[in-house]
Amino acid sequence: MSKVLVTGACGFIASHLVDRLVKEGHEVYGIDDLSEGLNNENPKATYYYLDLRDTEATDTFVTKIKPEIVYHLASHASENKAQFNPIEIFTNNYNTFLNTLVPALRNGMKRIIVASSIAVYGGIKPPFTEEDRPKPEDIYGWAKLMMEETLEILAKVHGFEYVIVRPHNVYGPRQSAISPYRNVIALWMNTLLKGESYTIYGAGGQRRAYTYIDDLVDGLYKCGFENVAGEIFNLGADEAFTLTELSDVLQEVTESNILPTHLPDRPQEVVHAVEDHTKAKKVLGYKTSVDLKEGLRRTWAYAKSRGPQDLVYTDIELPSEKMPKNWIKK
Ligand SMILES: NC(=O)c1ccc[n+]([C@@H]2O[C@H](COP(=O)([O-])OP(=O)(O)OC[C@H]3O[C@@H](n4cnc5c(N)ncnc54)[C@H](O)[C@@H]3O)[C@@H](O)[C@H]2O)c1
Repeated sequence: MSKVLVTGACGFIASHLVDRLVKEGHEVYGIDDLSEGLNNENPKATYYYLDLRDTEATDTFVTKIKPEIVYHLASHASENKAQFNPIEIFTNNYNTFLNTLVPALRNGMKRIIVASSIAVYGGIKPPFTEEDRPKPEDIYGWAKLMMEETLEILAKVHGFEYVIVRPHNVYGPRQSAISPYRNVIALWMNTLLKGESYTIYGAGGQRRAYTYIDDLVDGLYKCGFENVAGEIFNLGADEAFTLTELSDVLQEVTESNILPTHLPDRPQEVVHAVEDHTKAKKVLGYKTSVDLKEGLRRTWAYAKSRGPQDLVYTDIELPSEKMPKNWIKK
């Protein structure tokens, strides 16, 4: 059994991962600053609450823990907001990573598994494979790609193991519904719970394969313990849906007749972002078992039990006419 540190541990994906790590008998530590408003602790893990952008504080805690394995998931994962808040998104996606990696390496870390993103592929021809040359269209994707490139360089010099995971639009229970900038399924469900109309940016032709959380976590867990050092894995569901199709399935599952409202496209949003998962299936034995309708049913049951949430708007670094109108608090 290993001593494992998970960053962003109170967040959506990481909290499910912590549950799995605890279940498998590992000694689990989590770091989070609760900046995304989540608080999903596992009573059998140990948590430290700090901002990983703080180099000294992070060094102190990582040195205290001395993890053998690190899963780095801390991030502000607002891909579309990144063009209006580049400082916030870059520092939370790149500096948090470097601040964690350096002291972990100095203290004997063997392997780091990082949550990168499908965003690194940008607008290249889908379906994206791990062989494709990434070309992000947004600042969020560039910060993720820099993290990937940094791993490759530092691993050559310092000889540690790393695994890169590029998840594909994950959803499910515990996903934050308080951000107006991201998490389409959680956000739409929250809007429906308030009896209001949810937003589709543009015509609704954007294609994504929505991945149920349990299916992602199994693959993520395996990346920490299988013989896959140095590998990159796309992880997610295979079947892609347009936003309009997603909206139709959501209407059916929630038995709602509130129709969506259309707003103009968001700048730099990739229209067709779909990954190929052949490599993960072959190498990790990765499989998905929850289809969209079933996943939405489970997520809707969770959303109803949690009840409607108030949205939390943050300061915008570069306010602009190009910003979606519904990002401004009424
Ligand atoms: N959800 C998806 O569809 C998806 C897709 C691709 C990649 N990812 C990546 O997976 C990871 C987890 O995503 P998620 O959807 O669970 O997001 P999340 O917002 O639920 O979790 C991220 C956690 O990181 C914490 N955090 C952020 N900045 C921090 C800081 N400076 N110091 C300490 N803690 C900090 C937040 O408080 C939050 O609890 C992220 O790196 C994200 O970029 C997610």
